[in-house]
Amino acid sequence: MANIIDGKAVSAAVKAEVAKETAKLREEHGLKVGLAVVIVGNDQASRVYVNNKKKACEAVGFQSYEYALDENTTQEQLLDLVEVLNRDDKINGILVQLPLPPHIDEKAVINTISPEKDVDAFHPVNVGKIMIGDYSFLPCTPAGVMRLIESTGTDITGKNCVVIGRSNIVGKPQAMLLLQKNGTVTICHSKTKNLKEICLGADILVVAIGRAKFITGDMIKEGAVVIDVGMDRDENNKLCGDVDFESAEKRASYITPVPGGVGPMTIAMLMKNTLTAAKQQAGLE
Ligand code: GUN
Repeated sequence: MANIIDGKAVSAAVKAEVAKETAKLREEHGLKVGLAVVIVGNDQASRVYVNNKKKACEAVGFQSYEYALDENTTQEQLLDLVEVLNRDDKINGILVQLPLPPHIDEKAVINTISPEKDVDAFHPVNVGKIMIGDYSFLPCTPAGVMRLIESTGTDITGKNCVVIGRSNIVGKPQAMLLLQKNGTVTICHSKTKNLKEICLGADILVVAIGRAKFITGDMIKEGAVVIDVGMDRDENNKLCGDVDFESAEKRASYITPVPGGVGPMTIAMLMKNTLTAAKQQAGLE
């Protein structure tokens, strides 16, 4: 039976580190840390995420500034707001919650956020920096996954790492981070042939494909570390991941649950990025 990786505990440890450093910044340099969170429209899931981000800011001692814009906000109005936030010294990080309404071009918005304040690490400048290993911000979910793998004491060097999913937000940057830690990385996706065979060779398996219980125990190598980035609903509408936990935990050495695995890490890493942004803008890092 696998050891369960406790994402809530690892996330709490990251947030405690951030809170300690934030207090130190305030005491030693009189600096406050500010995160702007922009939400457009009434997407229910986005509202929950934004509320959680605001709560996390409070918990670590940041100021959060919410900009909740109407569904009918034009692209020009949103870009104007981002430009105002880019120039505002009390804002260290800017997060525009995705998805945006269909009449707004997400790419145009991401490209307008100043790379120095892009705490999601979605701007092409930051994406490029990840590729060459010269980064300030790591994308929050892949960075959270790395922290969870680290918490198991697994040395990634030389291990077969398989990433399932090739999104710009998770799969692609995840593969880069594993590569930087000297993993031998394979990226799989919906068109991959022999997926089961490839998965069976994985010492570390990161699954971010967005299909409920897609990876089953028979696809997992005995003793593998399995990280499930999925957030899906099963046939009974119950929250589940991309991995069939019940069969997978019989084969893995370590596995993340859903919920309580990768989910809590994303916000913790966002807090860490915002702190990094504040320090860099103050010339302290
Ligand atoms: N929507 C879902 N996840 C994310 C995220 O990590 N950042 C932003 N900006 N929007 C999201």
